[in-house]
Amino acid sequence: MALSDLELNSGTKMPIFGLGTWQSRDESAEAAIDCALENGYRLIDTAYVYGNEALVGKVLKKHFDSGKLKREDIFITTKLPNTANRPESVEKYLKKELASLGLDYVDLYLVHMPVGLVELSEDDLLPTDKETGMALFDPDSDHVKLWKAMEEQFEAGRAKAIGVSNFNIQQLQRILDNCKIPPANNQVEIHAYLQQPELVKFCADNKITVTSYATLGSPGRVDFHEALGLPKAEIPDLMENPVVVEIAEKHSKSPAQILLRFIMQSGIAVIPKSVTPARIKSNSEVFDFELSADEMASMKALDKGPKARGFTMVDIFKGIVDHPEFPFHDTLKA
Ligand SMILES: NC(=O)c1ccc[n+]([C@@H]2O[C@H](COP(=O)([O-])OP(=O)(O)OC[C@H]3O[C@@H](n4cnc5c(N)ncnc54)[C@H](OP(=O)(O)O)[C@@H]3O)[C@@H](O)[C@H]2O)c1
Repeated sequence: MALSDLELNSGTKMPIFGLGTWQSRDESAEAAIDCALENGYRLIDTAYVYGNEALVGKVLKKHFDSGKLKREDIFITTKLPNTANRPESVEKYLKKELASLGLDYVDLYLVHMPVGLVELSEDDLLPTDKETGMALFDPDSDHVKLWKAMEEQFEAGRAKAIGVSNFNIQQLQRILDNCKIPPANNQVEIHAYLQQPELVKFCADNKITVTSYATLGSPGRVDFHEALGLPKAEIPDLMENPVVVEIAEKHSKSPAQILLRFIMQSGIAVIPKSVTPARIKSNSEVFDFELSADEMASMKALDKGPKARGFTMVDIFKGIVDHPEFPFHDTLKA
């Protein structure tokens, strides 16, 4: 089964494989993006909140200037921060992000989170009440009005496609019921333990492509939680799972390659993050083998449902569960 690019409802195509860059910073991020482009990666996933769009732009410029890459060879995804989930902020942030990236357009612009935060300043990405420690939410975030502003950016040509991230079925349905341009993509946590079959089917039925994040279980969350003084992050043992390890041995591949291939073979894009050159290279070696129907069935059987969600956001944004657009009540009930 050859894996192909995903067709977006905007008429453009998105690579099914790319590089994630959350927590990629400074020289290591620059080297990682450079290494990825040298190894054939053609999709880079970034975001305003990752603080590395200028680094992505710097490496892209190097590849454009040297003639190794043309703008149309590369697919750039970035995201509106949740401190900007209001119509009047969308154009301001996208223009700022394009300036950092050194680009005239992005290939895909996503609303990063369905929950909005107040904007205290353009640099304060986690506005918090100093006394209570509670995140300062914007109770008025209205997805329908916000989406209209996203559509305007598509129409202005600053984004070749528009989509969302961390949206559940009800939130997607509300946009679909009220939009001119439907979302092209929903970027969500998906891995062998959290396969989200209902959401994936809903997206397929509505021609919304899906991107998996944390496909490898996001082991880097341990450092992130530590840096913010949050409770220790629990990381799923995906790469040590005996079923995954056995399939990996059969194909002479690594567990990471099996986890990525499984999701891609399910028609979902993956964006594994690494700043380690050997991993960047090996993660991309997922096009030269195929999982059999039996192996796909064994991988599907690993699904644990919503309780396996790592990115509930409840530790990071204190009080998020009470926001009307908190998308992960299924995990809290599981
Ligand atoms: N939309 C959203 O809300 C959202 C949320 C989370 C992530 N994302 C996007 O999705 C991307 C991927 O998610 P993620 O970064 O959380 O998790 P991930 O890709 O599952 O895991 C990345 C972590 O795994 C390590 N790693 C990478 N390849 C490996 C390998 N072959 N063997 C062992 N360890 C390996 C990396 O370490 P080293 O870097 O040290 O090699 C890094 O710590 C992000 O970077 C970001 O672009 C989006």
